[in-house]
Amino acid sequence: MARDSFNSKFGAIMALAGSAVGLGNIWRFPHETGSNGGGAFLLVYLFCIFCIGIPTMLAEFIIGRRGQRNPFGSFRTLAPKTRWYWYGGLSILAATLILSYYGTVSGWTLEYFMYAVGDSFHNQSSAEINNLFEKFVSHPYKPILWHIGFMVICSLIIIMGVKNGIERYTKMMMPVLLLIIIALGVRACTLDGAQAGIKYLFYPDFSKLTWKSVLAALGQSFFSLSIGMGALMTYASYINCDDSLLQISTRVVVADTVVSILAGLAILPAVFAFDVDPASGPNLVYITLPQVFDQMPLGYIWGIAFFILLTFASVTSAISLLEVCVAFLTEEKKMSRLKATILSSAVITILGVFCTLSFGPMRNVTLFGKTFFDLFDSISSNFILPFGGILICLFVGWKMKVRDVYFELSSRGKYELKSFRVLMLIIKYVAPTAIFIVLMSSLGIF
Ligand code: PFF
Repeated sequence: MARDSFNSKFGAIMALAGSAVGLGNIWRFPHETGSNGGGAFLLVYLFCIFCIGIPTMLAEFIIGRRGQRNPFGSFRTLAPKTRWYWYGGLSILAATLILSYYGTVSGWTLEYFMYAVGDSFHNQSSAEINNLFEKFVSHPYKPILWHIGFMVICSLIIIMGVKNGIERYTKMMMPVLLLIIIALGVRACTLDGAQAGIKYLFYPDFSKLTWKSVLAALGQSFFSLSIGMGALMTYASYINCDDSLLQISTRVVVADTVVSILAGLAILPAVFAFDVDPASGPNLVYITLPQVFDQMPLGYIWGIAFFILLTFASVTSAISLLEVCVAFLTEEKKMSRLKATILSSAVITILGVFCTLSFGPMRNVTLFGKTFFDLFDSISSNFILPFGGILICLFVGWKMKVRDVYFELSSRGKYELKSFRVLMLIIKYVAPTAIFIVLMSSLGIF
């Protein structure tokens, strides 16, 4: 049977942008920027995205499209009789871990969408909104039910396949997401007192830039672009042979960056206009924003729009993680797509229960001093993701034949590649070194 693939280049871009644009852009980027010095952080972030992110993403695309399989199978095809395929195991582990805690936060988003529809934030004091969050996340079973609900939505899309599921739904959700974030950005920037937030986001105050914030910028750029985990590799194996990988990657990166900046513009000016601390951390979205919406004219509508946005963003990212496991099981273990999806979702949901309970009954259960949620987050984002990024760059830069890399990147000679040598230089030396530094620092070695 022929392998399922994306129908069009537009579909491929939407699916890949869907994977990249997620909670990382809307939930994480504004508070990372808020806590790391605003504009100066943004500049470093942009540097990381364009100089290291694009080449590493391209390296991942090259392996996926050339291998024409899931990460495990692609490495086995491209480097037979070697152990490179172990990377496939790593990517499945990372996808499983990330999705189990990503699903927890996504489940909260679904509940918050219901709160927004039910106008639950109206006329509530900050203590009450704080309380609402604390009570919900620590509830013994409610967040688990939302987590399961979220996984069911993702599974249904994945069962439908690459064209009829992933491509069809990301093509529907991504344009809506973009419209909502633009509307929210315009609304927030036109609030009285918004200038302070805009200045905070764009004014580069280098005195606030620390080594830690540079590392945070590189880490954020990898997480935001979904690099290093096999998700892009899996999707790349569904891209048609004559579509330009360079064109697709630049569009995906630009889309991801635009959404992050728009999210910053939608959130930071509003936060300043209502005199809230921009560095209030991960709670910004669930505790601070509901208060901000409540004080805005037409806040009811903006609140609903925001949580629809967050839901779409998390679904389109989560399905790319689920697809890593499903592609492995269908191609390597010859399982049907239905069975593979049920099995992967079941395992991820069970692990996710531990993450979800980390905020409630299991908040005192720790492993290596961390709750399950924090442990899964830090193992995958700080360790597996950068490690995967290094392996991908080393494979393309040192193991693959330059001729093959050129052949794939130019789509069999169809496109001219002016920057090929620079790109190879970054893939061979610059990107792995930069990622190595981040990896070492997250392990506490630097
Ligand atoms: N890029 C996603 C975000 O910004 O939320 C998160 C993510 C998705 C990371 C898929 C890794 C991945 F493979």
